[in-house]
Amino acid sequence: MTKAKTTYGIIGYPVAHSLSPLMHNAAFKELRVKAVYKLFPVQAEELEPFFKELRKKDSNIFGLNVTVPYKESVIAHLDSISPFAKKAMSVNTIVIDEDRKLRGYNTDGPGFLAHLVELEFNTRGKRIAILGAGGTTRAILASLCLIPEKPESIRIYNRTEEKAQKLVNDLSAHMDVGHIKIVPTIDDLNIELCDLLINTTSVGLNAPNETMIDGDLLHQDMLVYDVVYEPRETMLLKLAREKGAKTANGLGLLFYQGILSLQHWAGQELPSEIKNIIRDVLENGVQE
Ligand code: ATR
Repeated sequence: MTKAKTTYGIIGYPVAHSLSPLMHNAAFKELRVKAVYKLFPVQAEELEPFFKELRKKDSNIFGLNVTVPYKESVIAHLDSISPFAKKAMSVNTIVIDEDRKLRGYNTDGPGFLAHLVELEFNTRGKRIAILGAGGTTRAILASLCLIPEKPESIRIYNRTEEKAQKLVNDLSAHMDVGHIKIVPTIDDLNIELCDLLINTTSVGLNAPNETMIDGDLLHQDMLVYDVVYEPRETMLLKLAREKGAKTANGLGLLFYQGILSLQHWAGQELPSEIKNIIRDVLENGVQE
């Protein structure tokens, strides 16, 4: 019997629209690695049996990404997690070794910071506003609290305020959250005074005319960062661009977190030519 191909993939529900297979399969091709990256749509009741299978000696799965809604719940199924993933209580990358031991990492936070470096945005002393308090905010916020270039203030608005409170409370066990303020309305974000506005909500996703933000609050001295990448320019980013603000969509975060996941699986840094090809595939689709 021929040995099944080394397999990587993404678990979550739903995962059908993920761009991760496009990215990672392009990477395997460029790296001449005989591996395949698959979608694993796993429902909540299937999570435990999925991890049981994963531990079997004959499993050909050696790495996983984790997405909504399992970034926190997978932790209970792992043997160890990295210090940052522990502090953020969020795992988006799993490395499985030859002994079928599972180690979790979070590359969303470091990926976000790597994208900020590319955008030449230094967080030191900056005023930051965040929309949303889901899994993406958790990783972004943890990285912003742990970075030596400490922001002056971080304001968070979430439709469900208690979720923001729980998130900040969770993080407070591992880091200083004294400069974070949860605000009850969007107006209280003081967007007109901030240097960086981050949208982590799904508002605008596949809805090119939707945004929660009044465009008149946006200004040219700010970076507006939307984690949504479908469409590439959301209404929020369009309004920001029209005001002369610098803008970034979610493809950069997708790219950097994916590269960092690949590096965890490969155990080494990827050559920059390969990174450039992967970025191009993400930005422009597959080149045949
Ligand atoms: P992710 O891991 O991508 O952050 P998530 O954990 O499901 O995804 O979080 C989604 C975020 O989008 C939440 O902050 C959610 O607000 P609630 O906590 O109130 O649910 C926000 N969100 C989704 N749809 C929204 C809408 N129509 N208006 C405002 N916020 C919305």
